[in-house]
Amino acid sequence: MKKYIQVHPWEIVESGFHSEFAKISESIFSLGNGRMGQRANFEEHYSGQTLQGSYLAGVYYPDKTRVGWWKNGYPEYFAKVLNSVSWNQIRVIVDGVELDLNKYEPIDFQRTLDMKNGLLKRAFSVIMPSGVKLSIETQRWTHMSRKNLGGIRMQITPDRDCEINIHSVITGDIRNQDSNYDEFFWEDTQSGYENAISWVSQKTKKTGFHVYAGTRTYTNCCQTFIKSETKVSELSVDDAFRVEAKSNESIEVVKYAAVLSDMYVDTADFSKQMELELNEAAECGWQKLCAEQATAWQEVWDNADIQIEGDDTAQQAIRFNIFQLYQTYTGDDSRLNIGPKGFTGEKYGGSTYWDTEAYCLPFYLGTATSDVAKNLLVYRHNHLPKAVENAEKLGFTNGAALYPMVTMNGEECHNEWEITFEEIHRNGAIAYAIYDYINYTGDEEYMETYGIDVLVGIARFWSQRVNYSENKKQWVMLGVTGPNEFENNVNNNWYTNKIAVWCMQYAKDSLAAIQESNLETYQDVIDRLNIQNEEIDRWKEIGENMYFPYDEEKKVYLQQDGFLDKELIPVSELEENQRPIVEHWSWDKILRSCYIKQADVLQGFYFFEDEFDLDEHKRHFDFYEPLTVHESSLSPCVHSILANKIGNHDKAYEFYLRTARLDLEDINNDTCDGCHITSMAGTWLSVSKGFAGMRVKDGTLTFNPNIPKKWSSIGFNIKFRDNYLRVQLSHESSQLSNLDGPAIDISVNGSTIHIPSNKTINI
Ligand code: BGC
Repeated sequence: MKKYIQVHPWEIVESGFHSEFAKISESIFSLGNGRMGQRANFEEHYSGQTLQGSYLAGVYYPDKTRVGWWKNGYPEYFAKVLNSVSWNQIRVIVDGVELDLNKYEPIDFQRTLDMKNGLLKRAFSVIMPSGVKLSIETQRWTHMSRKNLGGIRMQITPDRDCEINIHSVITGDIRNQDSNYDEFFWEDTQSGYENAISWVSQKTKKTGFHVYAGTRTYTNCCQTFIKSETKVSELSVDDAFRVEAKSNESIEVVKYAAVLSDMYVDTADFSKQMELELNEAAECGWQKLCAEQATAWQEVWDNADIQIEGDDTAQQAIRFNIFQLYQTYTGDDSRLNIGPKGFTGEKYGGSTYWDTEAYCLPFYLGTATSDVAKNLLVYRHNHLPKAVENAEKLGFTNGAALYPMVTMNGEECHNEWEITFEEIHRNGAIAYAIYDYINYTGDEEYMETYGIDVLVGIARFWSQRVNYSENKKQWVMLGVTGPNEFENNVNNNWYTNKIAVWCMQYAKDSLAAIQESNLETYQDVIDRLNIQNEEIDRWKEIGENMYFPYDEEKKVYLQQDGFLDKELIPVSELEENQRPIVEHWSWDKILRSCYIKQADVLQGFYFFEDEFDLDEHKRHFDFYEPLTVHESSLSPCVHSILANKIGNHDKAYEFYLRTARLDLEDINNDTCDGCHITSMAGTWLSVSKGFAGMRVKDGTLTFNPNIPKKWSSIGFNIKFRDNYLRVQLSHESSQLSNLDGPAIDISVNGSTIHIPSNKTINI
């Protein structure tokens, strides 16, 4: 754990330069706007530890699969979000020596991520070899309302006269660290310099995404900059300036970048569009663009902010999580999704995982208009044909759909057999998300038009994936990996069996509901999907006669067959120097151990809580949590919610901090690779579902607050169906305001509260 980030309710602050954590800070201070994003690499040259990262949403490369031993059914490639044109370099050379904080230690270094205004700032001084002391301030954003625009302002004040050369560089000479064969993923790179604009154009190999990026650099100050020669090489442009800087007079460099891809702009319009965006930016000017940026972020905060009174550590953390989520995904394009690292690193290839449905969807349901969450569902609907193809490759038939564990375009691109072929519970999360969306929004129409196709494909998959055990006289599911990836190829993972049965039931019930509400639509669905009565009967039969491993003595569902044969030694008895076990133990040792990576049986309790009473919740939590190492970022949030449910408030708070401050304190020792964006939605869930106890039951919004002792209150706005509500919860009382929409009934601790339009009710 590294506690070098200062606590502040609206800011992330690194005070004093922590070069030993340079890559962690690059992740934490990343910027993004849903369309593009960057790690917080320094503008000036830095020869120390760095992971250069500049990414564009949806632009990926199918990197050829690399495995030790090929197995039939493996996908040909692993999609990678690409490190693309880097536009943020401003190299500074003072009296012939290049500024490099790895060589010349900064004084009074302060880096700040101003989350309220969406601004990354740095301020520091540095003494150069010639003896001149430079005071430098930088500001940077990726613009939230001008999605193709990035900007930097750098101000330099020397304490004596000196010569400063500025090199404003844009380069396509960029590689992915995560590349299976050290390949350069780009081709057809061209660059040029015209009308004071430096530009680079390139295409991805194989996928053919065309990217065109241009920068324009302005030098504003009372001193005269002299334009030096602009160097145009094959991959880069170096736009250079020289100034005889005067003692204690600031020089200022402002650089705007327009980054376009053919996902949004026709290649024929690239150059015109780029010029337009850069000219508009210049006309607007730095201050106004910052103000626009602040306004765009204010809109996000109005809907998504959570105020925690009395605990700045918790407050800072929740805002950081919300901020990073909205930097990653803003929901206006159903071709995009949420990579586990967002725009903060290359790990996980920037691809889509079950994380989106199981964790992120509810966050967007609560904090944005329903079309954002709907876009996430439509993304999977659009991938249905590929999911069917994917299942066919594995031998399934009749429209059975197996969604990929990892994907960019609907094709599976994960290639470890125990996950690719066996971690099939992901299919369940996709069905569950449809339920979640309809339950929250009341948008029943979604089922008829999109949802049912996906559900039927998924139900068909499960009904073929199970087999009947003559021995048990029950249906079983063999050879799977549950959410706990520290067990592979197990039989009857309880969670997978549970969600499989639930999916088949949900598909069946949904068909029945459509039949009841509109016979014509029902007939359309039956015809479209060629559904036979026998298959619906089979879903029912499997559901009624599925095998679930259970121990009568302990009265717990077993994670999988044979779980109790393991040596059950609680995590608390492990030596600290053995943790995280994934870094210290062989895979063989991990697989035979009882240790659980992340919620598995408990994930099922989280999804299907109404099927279990409080005693069952307690029993299962007390049995499984002590064996859980939480080595997936997705783990602490679910445990925080369940701890709250069973009244273990201290644990709930402990898990909250662990999920919320995971990256700010590098708790899992891997933030250098990027932030854990998808689990950040879990942080939001541990406040909304955990401490606020928010649920939707039979169409009614309900709260059962359990606020941590340390907090005096939690406040947030929430969109729920036709209403926009303000929720303020404290230990003594609660306040609900109906800010917009018709009168609404809300349940608080079991009592129904009627709130007329535009009224506030104190409870
Ligand atoms: C977790 C998976 C998750 C993936 C991406 C893994 O470590 O075990 O559940 O989908 O990370 O976040």
